[in-house]
Amino acid sequence: NVEAKVDSVLNLMTLEEKVGQMIQYNGSWDLTGPASETGNKQKEERLKNGLVGSMLNVLSVEATEKAQRMNMENSRIKIPLIFGYDVIHGYKTIFPVPLAETASWDMAAAEESARIAALESVAEGVNWTFSPMIDISRDARWGRIMEGSGEDPYLTSKVAVAKVKGYQGDDLSDPRTIAATAKHFAGYGLAEGGKDYNAVNIGKNELHNVVLPPFKAAADAGVATFMNSFNTVDGIPATGSEYLQREILKGDWNWNGFMVSDWGSIAEMIPHGFAKDKIHAAEIAVKAGSDMDMEGGAYEAGLEKLVAEGKLDEALIDDAVKRILRVKFKMGLFEDPYKYNNAELLATVPYEEHRATARDIAKKSIVLLKNENDLLPIKSSVKKIAVIGPLADDKDSPIGNWRAQGEANSAVSVLEGLKNANLDAEITYAQGVKLGMGERSFLMPLEINKTDTTGIGEAVENAKNAELVIMVLGEDAFQAGEGRSQVNIGLAGLQKELLKAIYKVNQNIMLVLINGRPMEITWSSENIPAIVEAWQLGTESGNAIADVLSGKYNPSGKLPVSFPRAVGQEPLYYNHKNTGRPSSAEHVTYSHYTDIENGPLYPFGYGLSYSNFEYGKPELSGSELKAGESIALTVPVTNAGEVKGREVVQLYLRDLVASSTRPVKELKGFQLIDLEPGETKNVEFTIDEEMLKFYTASEKWEAENGEFELMIGGDSEEVQTVKFNFSK
Ligand code: IFM
Repeated sequence: NVEAKVDSVLNLMTLEEKVGQMIQYNGSWDLTGPASETGNKQKEERLKNGLVGSMLNVLSVEATEKAQRMNMENSRIKIPLIFGYDVIHGYKTIFPVPLAETASWDMAAAEESARIAALESVAEGVNWTFSPMIDISRDARWGRIMEGSGEDPYLTSKVAVAKVKGYQGDDLSDPRTIAATAKHFAGYGLAEGGKDYNAVNIGKNELHNVVLPPFKAAADAGVATFMNSFNTVDGIPATGSEYLQREILKGDWNWNGFMVSDWGSIAEMIPHGFAKDKIHAAEIAVKAGSDMDMEGGAYEAGLEKLVAEGKLDEALIDDAVKRILRVKFKMGLFEDPYKYNNAELLATVPYEEHRATARDIAKKSIVLLKNENDLLPIKSSVKKIAVIGPLADDKDSPIGNWRAQGEANSAVSVLEGLKNANLDAEITYAQGVKLGMGERSFLMPLEINKTDTTGIGEAVENAKNAELVIMVLGEDAFQAGEGRSQVNIGLAGLQKELLKAIYKVNQNIMLVLINGRPMEITWSSENIPAIVEAWQLGTESGNAIADVLSGKYNPSGKLPVSFPRAVGQEPLYYNHKNTGRPSSAEHVTYSHYTDIENGPLYPFGYGLSYSNFEYGKPELSGSELKAGESIALTVPVTNAGEVKGREVVQLYLRDLVASSTRPVKELKGFQLIDLEPGETKNVEFTIDEEMLKFYTASEKWEAENGEFELMIGGDSEEVQTVKFNFSK
């Protein structure tokens, strides 16, 4: 069995070799060419001596095979490497960014895109992805909000499980699957002020009830690895947190995979003011339960020395190494270290089929925010359409950030998608204004056009001559993502000027948004008749958008994050606490901002359809729930529209009085239903004790007796409420 094999290998290893397993190198130097005389040479020497456990960013069958051979053919101990990479929303075929895909609420889709990403990755030698990112985020200013599933722990937990299944399948040794990583453990998405890498000042209540549930779900689903995070939680760097890593993850949850650090996060405990040097940082991290050091050099500098000086028990090193070896054994690498270097597999990857799936998932991720007078879908009577905006023919922004091997400028643009749709209408195009300027990439600061207005005149002329204007605005590919926090989340640059100039001459506007974060679009929402949230949808973006605009697909997405009326409302989330002063009709002394309407512009769970779904009266099978039993909540939902459609029926719960204050509502279930026009379906949810559990004041995950409200509806605000009592 695996444990015996792990022990037998561990017994053969020297301390130096053990420490080697705990080191991960970045391999973005040209592994297939000659090593440089400097740093790379030294890395190659360590590879040859079996003193590296893993590499990241080594891509291609050729390069991964070369690195594996250097290690296997020269080292004494011959432990295979694993190759990690950020495969976040596709490898070559790019799917919607995770926030967008979550808007589909379609877990089969989330699993399928991960399965495809895994296949395309292994076909190029990559066998470990640093995904899913399951950080709860409630702040649109945080650039990495695009990379997660939004503000809700329940929805994010479901995505976590779907992604782990999609990447890893049922059997990690299947050469068509890859190991997954639950990241970033923990709290990274709640960075203060939405500023990346900032401190996270939450207590145990928020940690256990909001941040940890998706990680627990991923651990239970068998995720092979975790990644810790850059931030501090209540003053302790997550990388150095024994509470998070040893006590909760490896202790309470009994998870037996391994923890990789984030890039340099071990050594970053020095600037945090938590470690005095790399050696000290290594000591803290390994004691806390960080098993592998990603490109930080701390373990290389410190671990052997610490053991030799008696400051570190070798048993802790053994624990880390066993965890790493366990994953490698489960992947079947000891039997065949080259199983992922499979040129034949690469030749048979069905990229065309993957594109069709990407289009299907992309169209399901689109959220219809507004549709006054049924402007959408485009009517066959419309014969002249002006397509306008910096993102209208942009083939790059829909690819988004964290694009793995998705090529620059490889998306179908909206203009192309509309042309492909063969509408019986003349289409003109004008860019109007540019958005992102100059060369753009993951690490480069982005320059936004703030001065060049030369294209506005042409765009206005086109709009004057058209019956309908489709404006495509939003964010550049590199506006959201790591290190891309912003204090402004409205339309950047000159986009608003362009929109207003067009609005003056033609108000028949459909606004299509391409973006990675929730945006502040209050003016548009008040003035523009139709708004489509099309996110960054990946390779097939334009075709998917055209499917929705043309009516070929009836939009079914629902927001996984709240959209604010103003950035000053951030952090903004539906599952907030009630406060002691939730509302007042007459006074000012209640919880609100005095200069804006309370609540979001568009709430969590919101999204329109071309159909009209009517909810009947919810019925509860009993008003008393006992421990170990269940009751059922049923609601009839009817498609009262004229086209077939999909509705996401959402169930929320509120615990009215508890040992610590509970949110005003929390998502506890959802179901996707497809309805023909006129069709009714009874949707049933089972309510049991499990659903009521939370991290209580006595620090236990349990349900407390008392009164509860169940709320059911098509978004987090439009709900009907029923009550029941729970007793043990
Ligand atoms: O996986 C990422 C992480 O999310 C952010 N820092 C770098 C890692 C590896 O690229």
